[in-house]
Amino acid sequence: MKINVRAGKIEKYKTDAAIILLFEKEKPGKVAERVDKALDGMISRLIKKGDVKLTTGAVHLLYPEGRIRAERLLLVGLGNRSEFTPNRLRQAVGKAACSLRSAGARDITLITDGVVLDAEELGQALAEGTILGLYRFLKYKTGEENGLARDVQTITLLKESIGGLKAMQKGVKVGEAIAASTVMARDLVSSPPADKTPTIIAARAKEIARKFGLKLRVLEKEQMRKLGMGALLGVSAGSVQPPKFLIVEHRKGGKKPFIALVGKTITFDSGGISIKPAENMDRMKDDMSGGAAVLGAIRTAAALKLPLNIVGLLPITENMPSGSAYKPGDVLRTMSGQTIEILSTDAEGRLVLSDALTYACTYKPAVIVDIATLTGACGIALGTEATGMLGTDDRFKQMMRAAGETTGERVWEMPLWEEYYEQIKSDIADMKNTGGRRGGVITAAALLSKFVQKYPWVHLDIATTAWTETERPYTPKGATGIGVRLLTQFLRDYAEK
Ligand code: BES
Ligand code: MN
Ligand code: ZN
Repeated sequence: MKINVRAGKIEKYKTDAAIILLFEKEKPGKVAERVDKALDGMISRLIKKGDVKLTTGAVHLLYPEGRIRAERLLLVGLGNRSEFTPNRLRQAVGKAACSLRSAGARDITLITDGVVLDAEELGQALAEGTILGLYRFLKYKTGEENGLARDVQTITLLKESIGGLKAMQKGVKVGEAIAASTVMARDLVSSPPADKTPTIIAARAKEIARKFGLKLRVLEKEQMRKLGMGALLGVSAGSVQPPKFLIVEHRKGGKKPFIALVGKTITFDSGGISIKPAENMDRMKDDMSGGAAVLGAIRTAAALKLPLNIVGLLPITENMPSGSAYKPGDVLRTMSGQTIEILSTDAEGRLVLSDALTYACTYKPAVIVDIATLTGACGIALGTEATGMLGTDDRFKQMMRAAGETTGERVWEMPLWEEYYEQIKSDIADMKNTGGRRGGVITAAALLSKFVQKYPWVHLDIATTAWTETERPYTPKGATGIGVRLLTQFLRDYAEK
């Protein structure tokens, strides 16, 4: 899909569909008013009658039948002006683009006049909202249902005057880069486990690294053994798929210290010997969403040429039961030297992360951020609207919170008080890998904290934000690509300071 930015008048634009964005309880702006006139006041009449609602994302399709050159006209609500945010705009245009695709439009023209937003921010939000809203995962559909022919081909962002056009264009480029990385993450997370084994993900990372000028190292089992990554190796022991440890570097920050991003990348989590119930086990293909988010964020950082040094670390393995699998009762020796007693082989995320966090420390990073589909408990605590956040550094947690508000990928903090550490004390090892049912999000994070040494650290639990069972305004059912936009915003804000 191509997004163009143009100056011009909508009346003269031949297009499959025009979009007019309207605030609730307000008179249409200058351009909308002219279109209204051309339609003999139909728009204002329909609003007055109450037939057209203008809550965020509400849409109403009209057929101008020659009175303007657009074949269709979609009125789209932006809600109350006082509550307007870029996220509302993403939601509104995501819904709008989807409904026009269903109507059969392949070429859409969106009137940008009247939306009160900085031109660059506007371009970014429009690109993100439409691309992410129109996203579909069609790779495994054949024939008719693979409705590629009916996809939207072009979206033109129309502005009457030339002022701010360049800035909007710049914003579109940023939005396109961020959306493309999110799409990449969604595609990976939606892929069947057989098509995203550790070996396959390593190959995909190689392609991305080549394309975006990133440095990539892939550690094999032998090197993991030499480094003493007993936790990662323990989890992978039950799988016939060899594990991989990816080290992806974006080095554009001169002498600045590294930012380390660590992503849990379990390509399928069966639970291992502590096997999960059969129901919904297919969902556990999304257990690599953290790794996908890290790859996506570093891809965007490279595309946007952020002046930073970033290292992305992905411990990748399946978690499978077999004769060679690790067992409850085993004690694993981590790269840090600390030992972990295994009570459940299903608490595997924190194990692979412990070695990855220790590896992150070798960079002496300014901050470590890890992102992981870590605990079902997170969904119990926060539902599907918030990513759980814990960590050791208030400044970076505040930055993450702000990035969440900006992107709509919101995070909510939970406490990491020392009393919680009681729950992960082991009788025979330095710690155990589960802390019981209560406070599961926290005890998992408590274990991770033992592997970050003195470095500032933020942990993100995306267990129930990585996948959505219901359609959202710019997030169709399925993989959300969560974390890509959040981490990218965090990195952009960091680069600004
Ligand atoms: N990958 C799961 C967490 C998860 C559960 C993500 C549901 C998405 C939806 C993780 O590896 C896991 O199994 N965690 C266990 C931990 C427990 C054994 C302490 C859990 O949450 O039940
Ligand atoms: Mn598990
Ligand atoms: Zn898992």
